[in-house]
This record gives sequence, C-alpha cells and structure tokens, in this order.
Amino acid sequence: MDEKVSLVTGTGMEMPGLPPGFQAPVVGVSENARVPGAAGATFAIPRLGIPSMVLADGPAGLRILPHRKEDHHGSYYCTAFPIATLLASSWDIELVEQVGCAMGLEAKEYGVDILLAPALNIHRIPLGGRNFEYYSEDPLVSGKMAAAMVRGVQSQGVGTSIKHYVANNHEWNRNTIDVIADQRALREIYLKGFELAVKEGKPWTVMTSYNKLNGTYTSERSDLLSDILRGQWGFEGLVMTDWFGGRNAVLQLVAGNDLLMPGTARQQKKLLEAVTAEQLDEAVLDRDIENILNVLLKSLVFSGYRYGDDPDLQGNAAIARKAAADGMVLLQNKNQTLPLASNISLGVFGNSSYEMVTGGTGSGDVNKAHSISLVKGLDEAGYTTLAKLEDDYANYLEVESAKLPPRQPFRVPERIPERTVLRDEIIQIAGATDAAIVTLGRNSGEFADREIEDDFNLSAGEQQLLAAVAEAYHQVGKKVVVILNIGGVIETASWRDQVDAILLAWQPGQEAGFAIADVLSGTVSPSGKLATTFAINVADYPSAENFPGVVLEEAEPNGSSLVQAARAAEVVYEDSIWVGYRAFHTRNMETAFPFGHGLSFTRFSYGDLQLSSAVFKDKLSVRVTVTNCGELPGREVVQLYLSAPSGRLDKPASELRAFGKTRLLQPDASQTLDFVLAAMDLASFDPVTGMWTVDAGKYALGIGASSTDIRTTDYFQVVEALSLSV
Ligand code: GLC
Repeated sequence: MDEKVSLVTGTGMEMPGLPPGFQAPVVGVSENARVPGAAGATFAIPRLGIPSMVLADGPAGLRILPHRKEDHHGSYYCTAFPIATLLASSWDIELVEQVGCAMGLEAKEYGVDILLAPALNIHRIPLGGRNFEYYSEDPLVSGKMAAAMVRGVQSQGVGTSIKHYVANNHEWNRNTIDVIADQRALREIYLKGFELAVKEGKPWTVMTSYNKLNGTYTSERSDLLSDILRGQWGFEGLVMTDWFGGRNAVLQLVAGNDLLMPGTARQQKKLLEAVTAEQLDEAVLDRDIENILNVLLKSLVFSGYRYGDDPDLQGNAAIARKAAADGMVLLQNKNQTLPLASNISLGVFGNSSYEMVTGGTGSGDVNKAHSISLVKGLDEAGYTTLAKLEDDYANYLEVESAKLPPRQPFRVPERIPERTVLRDEIIQIAGATDAAIVTLGRNSGEFADREIEDDFNLSAGEQQLLAAVAEAYHQVGKKVVVILNIGGVIETASWRDQVDAILLAWQPGQEAGFAIADVLSGTVSPSGKLATTFAINVADYPSAENFPGVVLEEAEPNGSSLVQAARAAEVVYEDSIWVGYRAFHTRNMETAFPFGHGLSFTRFSYGDLQLSSAVFKDKLSVRVTVTNCGELPGREVVQLYLSAPSGRLDKPASELRAFGKTRLLQPDASQTLDFVLAAMDLASFDPVTGMWTVDAGKYALGIGASSTDIRTTDYFQVVEALSLSV
C-alpha cells in the first residue's frame, strides 16, 4: 500500500522554507536530482520496473537549472521561446506546432518526460498576472493553439499537460478563490479551449487549477475530471494537481485527479490513514494508478531513451527568432513609416530597448543563455545607433538596478523608472539621426496580478519621453516608431496619435532584438493579428467590474498555498460569455485596436466568398481567395465570423468560427483557403437543456482581416433547429 500511495503522489519539492510536512516525502526514490530544477517527478518502484517520470515547466520553453553542482558537462541552458500570447498572435497553427516540436526536442534531450505546458486560460482581463503564459480572449484561438503545441511537443515522445483546468484567470488569492461561473460561460468560453485541446491534441496529462469552481476545488470535482473530461471529451491520460493545489487528497483522488503534485509526506500519511479507515477505496487508488501507468508506458524514461543533455540550442534559437517575428503585430503604420530604409541611423530610447523583457516570471520563465537587445538586433541589421546613448542607458540601468531590493525567486523584478532624457539632448539626437525608436516594456508573472497605474497605463516618465521624442523628431520631419515589449494589453489610445508606427513585439523570447529588427527592416513582413482586444480603458472590459473578487473572511492561511496568504475569496464571473470582442462588438464599444487587427507592409483583396450550399445540412464548406494587391510580399490571416439568428439565447453580434493563414504571397499572388463548418461550429450552449443548440434561421458569414474589417459576407439558412449533446 505504501508503494501504491507513493505512485499517486509526486516525490516532493525541495524548496527552501517549506513548512514541516511539506518536505520531500521519505518514501520511495526521489529522482528530482535526475534533472535538477525540474518542477517534480513521480516515484520509481524499481522492483516493479517502474521508473520515475520527470515533469518540468513551461509554456515558453523548458525550465531547469542551468548549472549543476560538481558537474563537468557544462551548462543546461534552454531556449526561451516567445510567450504563448505572441504565438497566438501569429494565428499560425503550423508555426506553433513547429515551436512545440522544438520545445519537445529540448525536453527530450534533457531527460524530461512531461512538459508542463501549454497553458490556455482565457485572457479575461489584461490585469491577469499570467496572461503572458496564455493565448487569447477567444476559446477557439486558445484551443487551436494549445492543440498545436500539444501535437508538436508530443511528436518528440514528450508528454504535455494542458493547464490550468479550469478558470484560473488571475493570480489574486488563486489557491482558495471560488470562481462562480454560469454553465454557458463555462462551456462556451472557459472549457471550450480545453475541449478543443483534448480532442485535437490528445494531451497525455491535464493539470487542474488551484481555484474552486462554484464552491468546490476544481481538483475535487468529478464532473470536471470524470464526466466532462473523460466521459464527454474522451480524455485518456492522467490528471495532476497544480503544485500544492487543492485541499483534500482523498477527495482529489476520488474525483479523478490521479496524481498529487509535487507530493508531500503529509498527503501520503493522510492517504494511508484513509485506506486503513476505509475512507478511501483501494479500487480508486488502482484506477488512478492505472491512468498514471498508462502514461508511464508511453514515456521516454520507460523506453530507456538515452538522452545526451545536448539539444540543438542553435537550431532552436533560429526557430524562436522566426516564431517571434511571425507573432508580432503591426498596430499602426502611418504613411508607411515601416519598413525602415536600410542602413539609416536611429535614436533608440526606452529602458527596454537596452534590456528587453524576453518573457514573464514564475514557473513560466526560462533559464536562457542569452537575450538579444534591440540595439544589438538593429546593429546586426545594419542600422547605426548611438554608442553614447547606449552607454548612458546602460549606466543608468546598472545604477538603478543596484538600488532595487534583492529579487525574490520567481517574482517580477521591480521595474526601473523610465530614464529621463533631457529635451535638449533629444533635440540634438533628432538632428543627428534619421528616425526614433521608443520601446515600452512590461513584465508580469505568477503569484501577482498587474496594476492599472504605471502598468496598464503608461507612467508619467514614459508619457514624457514619448511626447518629447515625438515633438523633437516631428519638428525636423522625422518619424517615431514605438515598440511594445509587453506580456499583456496596455493602454494605447491616449498616445498613439503622437507617433507614426507601433509594433507590438510582445515578449519575444531570447532572440528578441533580432526578431524585432527582422520586422522593422522588412526582412520579415509582419503578419500577426491581435488575439486579445486592446480596449481604450481597462474599465471597458466587462470583467473589470468584478475583478479580482472579494475576500470572504480572513481565514487562516490554509497550508496548501505556500507562496501567498490564502484567504477565502470569491469572484463572480457576472460577465458570463461577454469576454473581449464578444462584448465590445455586441455593445458597439469603441476599442483602441480590435480583436483580429494587425497590419501588413502590403495589402490584400478578398475574392468572392463561395458557400457549398445556401442551406446548412450537417456541414458547410466555405472557400475564399486572397490576393496580395500591394507592392511587398506578405501573409494574411483570414478570419471567419458567424452572426447567428437570435433565439432564446442572447448571442454575441459575431463569433470567430474558423481562421487560416496564407503562405508568404508575392505581389499579385493569390491563395485559396477552404474552411468546413460543422454543426458544433454554429452552436451555442443552452444551460436549460444542457445541450448545444443551433437555432433555425438566417446566419451571416463574414470573412475578413479582423473582427471589424469584414471584406466579404454571405448568408445561409438553418431550416430546423439542432440540438447536440455535450
Ligand atoms: C506552479 C504553476 C504551474 C506550474 C507548477 C510547477 O505553481 O501554477 O503552472 O506548472 O506550479 O511549477
């Protein structure tokens, strides 16, 4: 029984300061040491030929320690790929699968069996601290991206863990907060991405979230873990908790949460007591263990794969660079400011131009060997930048970072105030250079949400810098380009008219500077589109009303949360399905940059829309031809939106139901894209019947370059309403 209990609990976590009872369990063989820095491992039972599987983060690349004690192998750096939010902005399923392959290869070569990724919680509000690890405000984009990542990683024989199942949309009191969400919001918004990821990706594992859902911890809900996940979606892998997630180990196992990570001696003791007291049926243990062993049988460690600790980091850096450029979004480009002419001189301003934010913090961080600054990328691309300005910023950043409090592990470093550049100096630089670049950087991460002031909104220093640079350069007829090096949406409406071009670079991974220069120079034509709306004010998001929730009582910190005082709290998702563009468009609310928006260096025309029928039967084929009618090569993301007839359910004005991305089209080249809509693609979830319903009536099908830039529309009828089981 000891061995059975050890199989459903991880080998523990050696983290300084863990309270007693949380130290790594004494039972079994802990093999965390097999891959130091990995997040956890399962127990080995050598006498039964059961090896230990190693589990490691994360969504932007593998996170393990870069150096090992008494180790002469060298280093164990990993590739910091672009963040998930950037990958989603590429709208390129094949690209995301390619990144997944590269991440999987790295995990394989470093001896990791399961990569704790992708993370696909919905961007419900820009202030969510971990949004950078997640894809989108839209469940279709989230699910398609996650499924592609799963297929990519698992193609290398490494398992994945889609997380955090479900509704972990912000960090405040994450370990105990009770998310109160209605069934329609769950099915259409918060579960839909996981449904797509399970059905189209077939992940080996699922990680439950920390929070409660409608009163019960997700890791203790058999409706989520057994009825929906396994019964309705056909999931066949194992379910693990998030680290120290949930409360009651027995209820977790009974609900179908097979594996308790990272595993504690306290949990093992409780489980043994429960079996002895016949409060935990051994058959439950056997079922959970069977799910775990079925994953183990597929694992690299079980096949005895001999990894070399020497992955192709150079090749993966090239993939990271390409992916980063393809996910950047050209938000604004007045009078074709971009691409920049080659070999010009640039005045480069902004702290983040010199120290890029390559990714967010917490478990989603990556220990990378290098990070390419914007100036290094620009220099490499043949631009001239000012050495003195670079030195001044470098000295400032060095002096200011020395003043910061010591960085807490896994926490966001305090942001250094934007350096003040005197107006006279800016004027002098404007006279000496051909154009200006100003980078605005933001960081965020696990354990804390973002702030409104000096975070979502620009700081006074940033506003002053932008205004001074714009005034100085425009006075001499020169252009200003802003680079947004951010992990989540910020305010843009108040300042964007002051500048000529805005390139949303997100947090582009370690090859940041090279990738940004590739786009600025036109080496790569920008083809990214927003997968999350840039609203004018943070208060415009419907979720802002109830974010982050309320404290119910000053409860005792409940042991399960080691990192933040856990207080009983509650957040009611009153916004229901009205998340992002679904709300903004239906309520005719102006946004700064709408969902699906992204410019190119060229222009595309859309040919006639062809539907296979004017009446929907069991599926509808849709065809459209896109032509590059501009002067430069480019790729177009084609988006298909449906407007359903009103029925009993209140529906969004339009919903994204399919999308595709062209290959690189030369001027005058065309590509035809085909889409197939099934009944489920037309459906809304009816909480009264518990079924997906397709109302009878006239459907408008719009295809376009963004949710507000529909280029061609057609209509079809559904003659009889349909009801589809979940
Ligand atoms: C963290 C995160 C989860 C991560 C796990 C292991 O707290 O919530 O995403 O995979 O623990 O590090």
